[in-house]
Amino acid sequence: MSNILTHDAEATRKLGYLLGQCAQAGDVIVCAGALGAGKTTLIQGFAAGLGVDEGQYVRSPTFTLMQIYRGRHALYHFDFYRLTRADEVWDIGFEDCLEAGGVVVMEWGDKFLSVLPAARLEIRFDILSADRRRIVWTSTQDSYQHYHGVDMAAWAL
Ligand SMILES: Nc1ncnc2c1ncn2[C@@H]1O[C@H](COP(=O)(O)OP(=O)(O)OP(=O)(O)O)[C@@H](O)[C@H]1O
Ligand SMILES: [Mg+2]
Repeated sequence: MSNILTHDAEATRKLGYLLGQCAQAGDVIVCAGALGAGKTTLIQGFAAGLGVDEGQYVRSPTFTLMQIYRGRHALYHFDFYRLTRADEVWDIGFEDCLEAGGVVVMEWGDKFLSVLPAARLEIRFDILSADRRRIVWTSTQDSYQHYHGVDMAAWAL
């Protein structure tokens, strides 16, 4: 388990960048937290850390449900916010993306934990005040230890 307090959106984006630099093919990442907690903000940085061209604008795929970005690995960005049943996850091509060997990231992924792979990274966001967020990331299996080597010295908070 690793955790950090961010004091603005830029710091959350920077954490995302550092995590994105650690990403490996096949990783599955759940982002959990209330509306406006910072999930998309972190994923914007994550995409940049994964080598996605900065010109590609990353936003919540709330209506498209999934968006693909090309980086060092493909980034499949899902948003389960509008889904009401677990089986809808399969209707939106989730399984194909899991098998494609890229990196799969889900906003509101905690809604349907039962249909997700057992091995995953979970990132939880808590809103402490207008600009402060506690961000805790946990790996369910040792295969995700690479996300816990994030260089905290790289922080300039
Ligand atoms: N420390 C912080 N970290 C992240 N975002 C912050 C922080 N402080 C303020 N914000 C603001 O909070 C908002 C976070 O929005 P964001 O779209 O990332 O949330 P989200 O969790 O993806 O929400 P949704 O569930 O609606 O998709 C932005 O407007 C951002 O500027
Ligand atoms: Mg979002």
